[in-house]
Amino acid sequence: MFDDVVDFVRSIYGKEGVIPLHEPLFIGNEKKYLNECIDSTFVSSIGQFVNIFEEKISHYTGAKYTISTVNGTAALHIALKLLGTDENSEVITQPLTFIAICNAISYCNAKPIFVDVDKDTMGLSPKSLETFLVTQTIQKNGSCYNKKTDKKITAVIAMHTFGFPCRVNDIKKICKQYNIKLIEDSAESLGSFINNQHTGTYGDMGIISFNGNKIITGGGGGCIITNDENLAKIAKHITTTAKVPHKWEFAHDMVGYNYRMPNINAALLVAQLENLEKFLKNKRELAMAYKDFFTDKAYYFVEERINTCSNYWLNTIILKDITQRNLFLDETNAKGVMTRPIWVLMNELSIYQSSQCAELINAEWLAKRVVNLPSSVILS
Ligand SMILES: Cc1ncc(COP(=O)(O)O)c(C=O)c1O
Repeated sequence: MFDDVVDFVRSIYGKEGVIPLHEPLFIGNEKKYLNECIDSTFVSSIGQFVNIFEEKISHYTGAKYTISTVNGTAALHIALKLLGTDENSEVITQPLTFIAICNAISYCNAKPIFVDVDKDTMGLSPKSLETFLVTQTIQKNGSCYNKKTDKKITAVIAMHTFGFPCRVNDIKKICKQYNIKLIEDSAESLGSFINNQHTGTYGDMGIISFNGNKIITGGGGGCIITNDENLAKIAKHITTTAKVPHKWEFAHDMVGYNYRMPNINAALLVAQLENLEKFLKNKRELAMAYKDFFTDKAYYFVEERINTCSNYWLNTIILKDITQRNLFLDETNAKGVMTRPIWVLMNELSIYQSSQCAELINAEWLAKRVVNLPSSVILS
């Protein structure tokens, strides 16, 4: 039934065997910089590559400050901690997301609240957020409290799903009105913009992941981006074991984390960043080829919204229903074309089943229909 899709994917990748969902590409100075890093002996959290990496991310995204971390989950954890998230807090996020967001909330001993997503962006819905805040919260001493639990809502985490920018401008306005801080989960959206402003720079903080499956990778890695000098300073301090600067003494002034990205991962990333524009261009060409192919089919290809630019990290289609989706997944995977469904909704996982939820009509609809297609960069 989906032989045409399998043939099309094989024709664009031009290869036998399994076609992965997303594989990294090392075509630049990766080995050179890794050797330089090894020769320098600075392979851990101090070294020139991790500093260069932070400067380059700030330059590319336009964020004033970049604080590198060991991965995107650590970046989320620290971002939440910096906003005072603890066992007396709650964090509003979307249920249609990767588990990392909920893990980070749980590391802070806080609880997630799930509001719906928009159907077109698959990211947090400003409407659903506003409805929840209007009906379920009250303001006390300049902060937002959940009427039901009397817990403070410290943050909203909105995500740019698969690189498609969500309606973050609207979300930001609502957060401001309700005295809640905004974290953008831009783990998947390096190279995605809204009106030429990089995703992750709208909120109080953004986070990016450089896991092996992302558009560029350091093997592992992440970062926080922010324009807030104070948050940046504390983030750097807390991710480097909260060590008090001194020539030789080991003193620490708060509970810190060993979360700084090792220089050796940064060496890989500095080389990868040199090819980011090329990767983005090639991914866009791939997306346009998919778009043409899926025109006039009984299911549709997800496109970037007007005034937004997606990095098309993972190309995405929406099938008719769950039966058609499962058939598609079974057939394509059996024929060596790796395709994957979107995540199981967080509120359906046993650990989060008792979480407070808004109406989740769009999230439930999408969870049954969304499939990602092979999206690795193909060099032309
Ligand atoms: C949306 C999202 N948030 C957070 C993360 C966590 O990043 P990491 O794997 O680097 O910890 C990922 C994926 O890796 C992700 O896709």
